[in-house]
Amino acid sequence: MSSDEITRREVLVLTAATGGLLAGGQLMWGPVSPAAAQDAASTPTPLEVMLRINGKEHRLTLDPRTTLLDAVREHLHLTGSKKGCGLGQCGACTVLMDGKRVKSCLSLAALMEGREITTIEGLAQGEVLHPLQAAFIERDAFQCGYCTSGQIMAGVACINEGHAGSPEEIREWMSGNLCRCGAYDHIVAAIQDAAAAPSATQGG
Ligand code: FES
Ligand code: FES
Repeated sequence: MSSDEITRREVLVLTAATGGLLAGGQLMWGPVSPAAAQDAASTPTPLEVMLRINGKEHRLTLDPRTTLLDAVREHLHLTGSKKGCGLGQCGACTVLMDGKRVKSCLSLAALMEGREITTIEGLAQGEVLHPLQAAFIERDAFQCGYCTSGQIMAGVACINEGHAGSPEEIREWMSGNLCRCGAYDHIVAAIQDAAAAPSATQGG
């Protein structure tokens, strides 16, 4: 059988039968040691990726598995977005993609080409804080601060989405952002204040 004749089903049957596997897009025949499999899987071809972050374009050469969070933190040194769980559960890594909130730890950087990404570093207008940043300070809406950039980015989206009509609504729509310090009452109050501010719907 030539490789041209191999169907997906046949690949599955063959790999199950022979102990071969697909690694790095290559079909490896016969029994494969774990080390060889790891080597093959850990050397994907780097990608050239153009990311637009906070209004500036950045050309990066990335492992295709790089998350948006790692691209902004490790490659662009924008460390305001935090890595909490790395599993999409805490919201510490929240950024805006075309104005919508995304968990950057779950987003592949290579899929962000052509998107406008806003991180906490891009929210203020020069020296002028976004109304929600100012409200967080005014309302003392953080303790350790680890969750704060994600809370603010999610809060901006929450306001822009029109989901900041009441404390209950804010709590529901901010439920994807956890705060280990338990500053929730202050965070909700800050979002309410910012939602009432004339220029709250900006930054995404
Ligand atoms: S670090 Fe992304 S959701 Fe926790
Ligand atoms: S302020 Fe500490 S985790 Fe939220």
